[in-house]
Amino acid sequence: MAGGSILTQVGGKEYPGSFTLFVAMACLVASSGGLIFGYDIGISGGVTSMDSFLSKFFPSVYRKAKEDVSTNQYCKFDSQLLTLFTSSLYLAALASSFVASSLTRTSGRKWSMFMGGITFLIGAVINGLAINVFMLILGRILLGVGVGFANQSVPLYLSEMAPAKLRGMLNIGFQLMITIGILAANLINFVMSKYDWGWRVSLGLAGVPAFIITIGSLCLPDTPNSLIERGHAEQAKEILSKVRGTKDIQDEFNDLTTASEDSKLIKSQWKDMLEPRCRPPLVVTILVPFFQQLTGINVIMFYAPVLFKTIGFGDDASLMSAVITGVINVLATVVSIIVVDKYGRRVLFLEGGVQMLICQVAVGVLIGHAFGTSGVGELSKSYSMIVVGCICAYVAAFAWSWGPLGWLVPSEIFPLEIRSAGQTVNVAVNMFFTFIIGQVFLTMLCHMKFGLFFFFGGWVLIMTIFIFFFVPETKNVPIEEMILVWKNHWFWGKYISESDIHVENVEMIKKPHVKTP
Ligand code: BGC
Repeated sequence: MAGGSILTQVGGKEYPGSFTLFVAMACLVASSGGLIFGYDIGISGGVTSMDSFLSKFFPSVYRKAKEDVSTNQYCKFDSQLLTLFTSSLYLAALASSFVASSLTRTSGRKWSMFMGGITFLIGAVINGLAINVFMLILGRILLGVGVGFANQSVPLYLSEMAPAKLRGMLNIGFQLMITIGILAANLINFVMSKYDWGWRVSLGLAGVPAFIITIGSLCLPDTPNSLIERGHAEQAKEILSKVRGTKDIQDEFNDLTTASEDSKLIKSQWKDMLEPRCRPPLVVTILVPFFQQLTGINVIMFYAPVLFKTIGFGDDASLMSAVITGVINVLATVVSIIVVDKYGRRVLFLEGGVQMLICQVAVGVLIGHAFGTSGVGELSKSYSMIVVGCICAYVAAFAWSWGPLGWLVPSEIFPLEIRSAGQTVNVAVNMFFTFIIGQVFLTMLCHMKFGLFFFFGGWVLIMTIFIFFFVPETKNVPIEEMILVWKNHWFWGKYISESDIHVENVEMIKKPHVKTP
């Protein structure tokens, strides 16, 4: 057992227990689901900038990029097939997240994680051994199915295992694993780009984190909530006692049982979600992942090496710059873990938005000044350093704001009975727009040129205004009291009727922490 004693709070109630080594280990293993997601995000950009990979699978793109030196810089890498390689994963993840949501419910979180791991493993092997574009894309799709299963089940597993007071921290732990996965991929690409067969190792190594989650999930116990839901009450009690590190769990166990019975009364989570009282969290859960992708972050994550090459960097410098942005991404996520419960979500969202906007305008101006609209030109060393500096400041801003909060906020604003459907909406919207950005970015760069940075900057402005007016602070608000936050909100208040509010909550409506801007 590790850590001091804490009281787990659910619905204004406090349960005894401590942060045990058991729960820490279980959450660590489960978080490796984030590692595989991150590895996939980071690996494709570096691989698609490797000459040996391009010449083998995309010879026409390779010729265009290499031989025609007069080619417009912005259009060097524009190829639908090349982008399909990157973005097919996200479409597969979107589709499988719906299947995963029912497997997660009927067979438990553990088996969804296992399914995620095993499909990943097969996808990694097919990609590593690929001899044609078909094998490449098939492998990518299988990795995507794995991502869909993992992203649906892992966050749910973490929040059900974690004591409520550590839920926010553990949730961002998942994002931290994503960023570590991206960084590992960038480093591996950097080393492997020196070898002709390097791309095979880069793609095949996705199997390592996949192996961890596959074996790990077999050793993990399922969550008490899921065990109760599936009729294994005794086993649930045993696990609950182990994860909380105390025999004194009857109170929490009874509440979990009641919550499970209540949730069985709901006929359809999807129908319930359309009720007026769910309008505020539903709109926020659709817009937050949509906006997260419209920050343009994955332009950097997927295509940093290609982007840096486009700007005129050499092969090594391009991959090195991707490693630097990867390190910044991890460190700034740690900042978020430290401050998110202290300063709140809104401060991070707003500061991050302003910082990203400034950086995007700066990069647009700098690149526009260097290449104009013709796309022909070269950057001096010091000029390139300034561009990289701005891109790093942009990544840092994302990593302590929209990165983690894009996953955290949608997970903490739905009422219990429709929270898992809410998570599916979150994953599906996120994956869909990740796919769109992955698919159209290189074409957009070719057509919009440096204006692309202003395009994403415009979206960042809109989303920052949206946060300011429409997203209330959720720091320290027990999820069950969220209804009061919406009720008190200047805009969302009209969707919440008196009958939606439980009698015991009425007094709380005057509490300072449920006051909204
Ligand atoms: C986003 C990913 C992004 C990553 C970058 C995640 O929160 O969902 O699309 O690549 O952050 O760290």
